[in-house]
Amino acid sequence: MGIAHIPVMPEEVLEGLGLKDSGIYVDATVGLGGHAEEIMNKAGGCTLIGIDRDDRALESARERLGDNEKVHLVKESFSNIKAAVNSLGYENVDGILLDIGVSTMQLKAEGRGFSFLRDERLDMRMDQSQELSAKEVVNSYNEKDLADLIFNYGEERFSRRIAKAIVTSRRNKRIETCSELASIVEKAVRRRGRIHPATRTFQALRIEVNRELDELSEGIDSGAEMLNSGGRFCVIAYHSLEDRIVKNAFKKLAKEGKFHIITRKPLVPCREEVRANPSSRSAKLRVIEKI
Ligand SMILES: C[S@@+](CC[C@H](N)C(=O)[O-])C[C@H]1O[C@@H](n2cnc3c(N)ncnc32)[C@H](O)[C@@H]1O
Repeated sequence: MGIAHIPVMPEEVLEGLGLKDSGIYVDATVGLGGHAEEIMNKAGGCTLIGIDRDDRALESARERLGDNEKVHLVKESFSNIKAAVNSLGYENVDGILLDIGVSTMQLKAEGRGFSFLRDERLDMRMDQSQELSAKEVVNSYNEKDLADLIFNYGEERFSRRIAKAIVTSRRNKRIETCSELASIVEKAVRRRGRIHPATRTFQALRIEVNRELDELSEGIDSGAEMLNSGGRFCVIAYHSLEDRIVKNAFKKLAKEGKFHIITRKPLVPCREEVRANPSSRSAKLRVIEKI
């Protein structure tokens, strides 16, 4: 499809995973295979299990990683990481990577309905076989639930005003497209600063549609159980809500005496990386190691 995803903080991730040539690694957000390819280039003898819930991402990862008997790709949500790994006959693994959020492909490819810049059907489902889409959320949730989710998941201070504008607008006609929703939000709140006024609302809808925060907590708990002693867990988060969940979950695992924290403070991309790949700018990488 011609849309490449540049892996974020590749050196830091490879080091964070502490790769061994004989190890078994899970890239539980394999996406377009960027990090997975780096892992296979660095430790060609290892086994790599790539998980994603997006069929199109898996197709691209398959193309990028080629035919390799050491690479297994599975369609699954990472909250079910244990079931996915067990289905391949593996019990424990030596490293897990979660690079959460959306891929460049999901944002830029036609017809996925994630971006307020596109005039296409509102969708935002990573897994296209799922029923709930962003269109359902904006047309069926009541005003209070919309306001709460835009406030909690978008950290948007004008959430009530936006929810009211959505409910008023859909009384006349269902909201069908990303650009319709973007213009409803834009009229409800004035543009402030450089970010588009619909950015936070779109983030909130994406999190709701894909249960992103619950997936993250469940994925960390389930993955942590499967790691061998000395195994590493690396998570890259892109906004404060996600990073807070990672930080607290890692702290809890360390307090229980099961893990060492490797990164006291999250690692962030260097200036050159942000210049070359602006989508990396908000990334935060945290790493823990199983005792
Ligand atoms: C930022 S991209 C990963 C890019 C990848 N690291 C690369 O270098 O190509 C995030 C990917 O995670 C997938 N994803 C997000 N949440 C998921 C979940 N709960 N379960 C499985 N896959 C998920 C998305 O479909 C997307 O393809």
